[in-house]
Amino acid sequence: MAKKTETLLDKLVSLCKRRGYIYPSSEIYGGLASIYDYGPLGAELKKNIKNFWWKWMVQLHEEIVGLDSSILMAPRIWEASGHVESFTDPLVDCKKCKQRFREDLLEDSDTCPNCGGELTDPRQFNLMFKTFMGPLEDSAHVVYLRPETAQGIYVNYINVLNSSRLKIPFGIAQIGKAFRNEITTENFIFRTREFEQMEMQFFVKPGTDSDWFETWKQNRIDYYKKLGVRGDKVRFHQHGENELAHYAKEAFDIEYEFPFGWKELEGIHNRTDFDLKRHQEYSGRDLSYFDDVSRERYIPYIVETSAGVDRTLLTVLVDAYEEQELEKDTRTVLHLSPPIAPIKAGIFPLVKKEGMPDVAKKIYNDLRPYYNVFYDEGGAVGRRYRRQDEVGTPFCITVDTETLEKETVTIRDRDSMQQERVKIDQLRKFLFDKVETV
Ligand code: GAP
Repeated sequence: MAKKTETLLDKLVSLCKRRGYIYPSSEIYGGLASIYDYGPLGAELKKNIKNFWWKWMVQLHEEIVGLDSSILMAPRIWEASGHVESFTDPLVDCKKCKQRFREDLLEDSDTCPNCGGELTDPRQFNLMFKTFMGPLEDSAHVVYLRPETAQGIYVNYINVLNSSRLKIPFGIAQIGKAFRNEITTENFIFRTREFEQMEMQFFVKPGTDSDWFETWKQNRIDYYKKLGVRGDKVRFHQHGENELAHYAKEAFDIEYEFPFGWKELEGIHNRTDFDLKRHQEYSGRDLSYFDDVSRERYIPYIVETSAGVDRTLLTVLVDAYEEQELEKDTRTVLHLSPPIAPIKAGIFPLVKKEGMPDVAKKIYNDLRPYYNVFYDEGGAVGRRYRRQDEVGTPFCITVDTETLEKETVTIRDRDSMQQERVKIDQLRKFLFDKVETV
């Protein structure tokens, strides 16, 4: 039988498992479909992506503040938001092989793409996970695991207004877990049932929403370039009439060209006053805003930017992965940008003698409070470089004989493989300049 050729995604999945980026969840029990765990390097990368986003969206915008709302919320919120009624996917089953599909993702909605069998009529399937609060498992005690973090922002918007000096236009940003009982899960961590979102809701005066929508579209595409994603791999996709979510007047996806095609990475939505009006109606609370500039009272419009942490993580890994054919071997390298790379520098003694390990360890201990650095003295230095290349470490600092005389070390750049000599007391500044950029 012909051996299946390994795709880029196969290679990445294997690298992620082998080097501690991503593992299948509950693996020793046979796994749990489309749920993943992040290993030591994955946890670092995820944290760095979230910090980068927070810096870009909150720290650099004086009119945007953060929030951390709970996953479980009053069930009426999901009735008001329209999720109980409309957050559904059309589901079809194959009458022959019994496989299940999302009808809207099929090219031919009558024929099974797996075996050619006949498909059932579509049924609407709600994507929200349900559980019960308290000891009674009846309909009066149902609560939902939130399918988006946005609603936590809407129901807190008056609290935020009353406890800050914000005036329209302003934004509230939040990072947190979301859950969706997805029917089709595929392509590694692209579509999972538990994931994290980084969402920002921008509250604006009605009538100014279209301009703000354009501003945020541009801002968000700029962000991906700053994150280090190749510019020719991201593009906009405008939602047509039948793609629009129930809350959106206008929507654009930022798409990335994954190995499995152009797919959504982030959604930018003009949600109008839909959500706040519905929460006002369902809660009976006044959610209007008094604009002391125009002396008007109105329900703000909302422009939303909604990105997935896990999907961003997959994007940066796919985008960074390269196999370089060198003279003697193949170099696998992840070109992750320094601000998000899990390990900022590998620190090596050239050899395990002449006091080099002691100097290298001191450098390691001096940098550790500031940056995630990695000490390695095992094996030939070339192999140590390669091990760091494969996990995306942008710099390798090596202590050699000259170090002992001149208090300098070499810094090898992962991408160019060029080395430069730097004074030991300049290392922290060197890393700061490379890593602390937004
Ligand atoms: N609040 C709006 C909202 O949730 P969405 O387009 O449904 O909009 C926004 O989701 C982003 O969340 C997506 O662009 C994607 O990055 C991420 N996302 C959504 N469902 C996901 C899933 N099942 N697995 C991983 N990420 C997901």
